[in-house]
Amino acid sequence: MTAAPAIEATRQQDRQHHVHGQTNLRTHGDHGPAAMVVKGSGVRITTDDGRSLIDGFSGLGCVSLGYHNDRLANAAKRQMDTLPYAPTFYGRSHPKIAALAARLTSVAAAPFEKVMFQCSGSEANDAMIKFIWARNIVRGEPKRRKMISRWRGYYGNTVTVVALSGQPHMHANFGLPMDDFLKLSTPNFYLHSLEGESEEAFSARMAAEFETTILDAGPETIAAFFAEPMQSGGGAIRPPEGYWPAMQAVIRKYGIHFHVDETVCGFGRTGHMWGAEAFDLNPDSATCAKALTAAFFPMSAIMFRQDLYDDLMKTSDNAGVLGHGFTYAGHPVGAAVALEALDIYDEIDLVGYVRRMSVPFLAGCEALLDHPLVGDVRGIGLFCGLQLVQDKARRQLWDPALKVGQMVQDRAHARGLYLRSIPPDRISFTPPLIIEEGEIAEATAILKAALDDVWNEVRGRA
Ligand SMILES: Cc1ncc(COP(=O)(O)O)c(C=O)c1O
Repeated sequence: MTAAPAIEATRQQDRQHHVHGQTNLRTHGDHGPAAMVVKGSGVRITTDDGRSLIDGFSGLGCVSLGYHNDRLANAAKRQMDTLPYAPTFYGRSHPKIAALAARLTSVAAAPFEKVMFQCSGSEANDAMIKFIWARNIVRGEPKRRKMISRWRGYYGNTVTVVALSGQPHMHANFGLPMDDFLKLSTPNFYLHSLEGESEEAFSARMAAEFETTILDAGPETIAAFFAEPMQSGGGAIRPPEGYWPAMQAVIRKYGIHFHVDETVCGFGRTGHMWGAEAFDLNPDSATCAKALTAAFFPMSAIMFRQDLYDDLMKTSDNAGVLGHGFTYAGHPVGAAVALEALDIYDEIDLVGYVRRMSVPFLAGCEALLDHPLVGDVRGIGLFCGLQLVQDKARRQLWDPALKVGQMVQDRAHARGLYLRSIPPDRISFTPPLIIEEGEIAEATAILKAALDDVWNEVRGRA
């Protein structure tokens, strides 16, 4: 069989039998996979047609150390040879997971004494919601159930975290969200500020909305506020000046549990170990995932303070056990890979490296503000969101039917850069954390060329 028929056969298998998440099923059904990635190395992926692309989205914001790493692969192999699986139910444990729990508490952004492992960011956030509800039950406040989060937030795909997420395309068609999940505005200053409003005034308005939401719902019914330090799935939205101080003042005023989702921000993405450190947050608990294992193994964790653990102890006393867990949570191979990843992060001073690379990276992105399609560029570390607009002066978006963001994504893909477009026409540029300066220059030049391609197609269109 020649190479081309083999490629075609694989694509047909995918088209006919593989159901993809977060994918237009009709497009996939008609045309097959958008890309068939066959290998990777450094920041580059190779597709089945032999093309090499820079991955400007780190897989899904997770491939922190790029696509090849002998140390991570060997750590997985060693662990598979020694102990490929061990449950963590019934008080059973294994050395790697004990070491990883201790290691995470030692690097946490807040005094988190306790760590519980899950398999994905979704499961971790879902577990946290359950634990907060469980705590309120043992504290005699069973009506304290309401979770506050923000539009455009993305917390994953279980039923509760979809309800928590502010992604309309994940709601109505599944009969969601449920009651008890309240939403605040996304802090997208560029799109949602009023004419002449300063960043601080906008932030104060966001905090006032938060307080009104609490008062309208009844403070005694509010269980927690969930937030990503910088929204990722919403389109890499960096909050404006004064946002987090104002929001945290409301959190403190009403004594609300503050859960920070570090799924994307954690482990250096912002040029700090945690997004909480980048934005000076003081959370009660946190989720981490993705770069925990540099994406070489599916693993996540929730980290929390002793007081929540003390309440979970009572839940366990009542039921005989803490009635929660997953077969593969605390997997020894994941733990071995995570420990190795954390060693590598320390040895190469990943956080310092991201800070250094963020200078050319953010400068390259900000230079695109001169482009007629680009209305706003905001980022931190190696995490940047670009807003495409039809009219910069009036901050007017393109007709969504034109799919301008998707067009930029497609043109960039054709030119050798994978990027993600997120409604409304935002481009999320989130490369692997090991990206080098020359690769940053190459990637931003491709993005500029893709913007030119699209501008030439859409200019003059209403
Ligand atoms: C901030 C955030 N939280 C949670 C999740 C869900 O993680 P997972 O896909 O591992 O369930 C994601 C996924 O992208 C995310 O970006």
